[in-house]
Amino acid sequence: MQNERLSVMNFLNEATSRYPDATSFASGRPVEFHFRTDRWGDAIREFQTYVANRNGQAFLDAGRDLAQYGKTNGVVNELIAQQLHVDEGIECCASQIVVTSGCQEAIALCISTLCSKPGDVILARNPTYIGVTGAADFAGIEIVPVDVHPTEDWKSVLAHTIERLRRLGKRPRALYLTPEFDNPTGTVLDMVERQSILEVCSQHRIAILEDNPYGMFRFDGERMPAMVTLDKHGCVIYLATYSKTLCPALRVGAAVVPTTLFDDAESATRLRDELSERKSFLTLNTSQVTQAIVGGTLLAERGSLLSLIQPSLDHYRINRDVLLSALAREFSSDFDRILWNRPQGGFFLSLSLPFEFGKREVVECAEHHGVLALPMSFLALDDSHKCELRLAFSNLAPEQVDQGIQRLGVFVRKRLS
Ligand SMILES: Cc1ncc(COP(=O)(O)O)c(C=O)c1O
Repeated sequence: MQNERLSVMNFLNEATSRYPDATSFASGRPVEFHFRTDRWGDAIREFQTYVANRNGQAFLDAGRDLAQYGKTNGVVNELIAQQLHVDEGIECCASQIVVTSGCQEAIALCISTLCSKPGDVILARNPTYIGVTGAADFAGIEIVPVDVHPTEDWKSVLAHTIERLRRLGKRPRALYLTPEFDNPTGTVLDMVERQSILEVCSQHRIAILEDNPYGMFRFDGERMPAMVTLDKHGCVIYLATYSKTLCPALRVGAAVVPTTLFDDAESATRLRDELSERKSFLTLNTSQVTQAIVGGTLLAERGSLLSLIQPSLDHYRINRDVLLSALAREFSSDFDRILWNRPQGGFFLSLSLPFEFGKREVVECAEHHGVLALPMSFLALDDSHKCELRLAFSNLAPEQVDQGIQRLGVFVRKRLS
């Protein structure tokens, strides 16, 4: 499966470069217009001043320390803790945080630390974010799909999956989830689902990796509490990133380790130390230059990124609305066969067609209709989800979203006729 997964992503990258004029719903990149590179210098200066004042150092000496190899666990931990508190309602302290080179490093560190013995496996929703599948593949860790169909509930599906794995001599050590505006489906886990997952995972001592890159980008509907805030026994490791709120080039993310892991403080300290040890041999420390940009920005924004992200949030909301209207316009006569969800936030929507959409269809759409979309089967952990597409609406102008769906509509009608 590993080679297959890598090859499909290479295929998609090639298609993107071969058809540069095609409207692409394939890439879930954040929109660039809110990237404030003009403020980077000020942010570094602001953070350097903060460190100098805090440590009673000269400004230049604080800068020299930043330019040196740094602390493995990071230098902006207390500012991250403050932002998580203000923006996400998450209570944690600086010592619980390992600052990572993007959330991607946090994922790779967590799964390789948690699944260190033969037979240790990771669970993930199916389909799932390709970054977790790739990290598991490269670490040689089996990733087991958890498919919860609309008529089923998380509690019984999880319990059944755990039981099946135990019979095979395997130990599920972690469950990877994006509860808010999932990549790739755009869906949100409701309160009952969150509680059920926490209950089963704490009972079976399975750590939950709560990945939340899109939670700040809610357009409508009721705000949901992060799973880490509902966690009574210390089974959630919260994964944060500044790639979507600030920009991906910073490569700053974080893993927040609970104070007690399954009610045990020593295990939690051991886990944090192990993450840190592994990181020290992987990236030594996250770039202190980009940590300083994040830190300085958080200081300038008084700990909250809400107002900074407002313009991009508005852009994503407009695109979501244009996308929904265009889908309704193109496919309204096929409502029973062509289905899609209405994401309340994030970057992605999932579309289900009455026929398979794979490599051949990607090429046909790009070459003859000027539109690119990502087959959901590329992100599936098994041979499923063949008739679904992931539509990323984040990095397009609203007119492109509308035109792209019009083009997709022509392709679908041609295929169905
Ligand atoms: C669900 C999810 N997790 C993690 C990442 C990677 O984040 P980072 O840029 O912080 O490594 C992405 C990027 O698209 C993502 O969609």
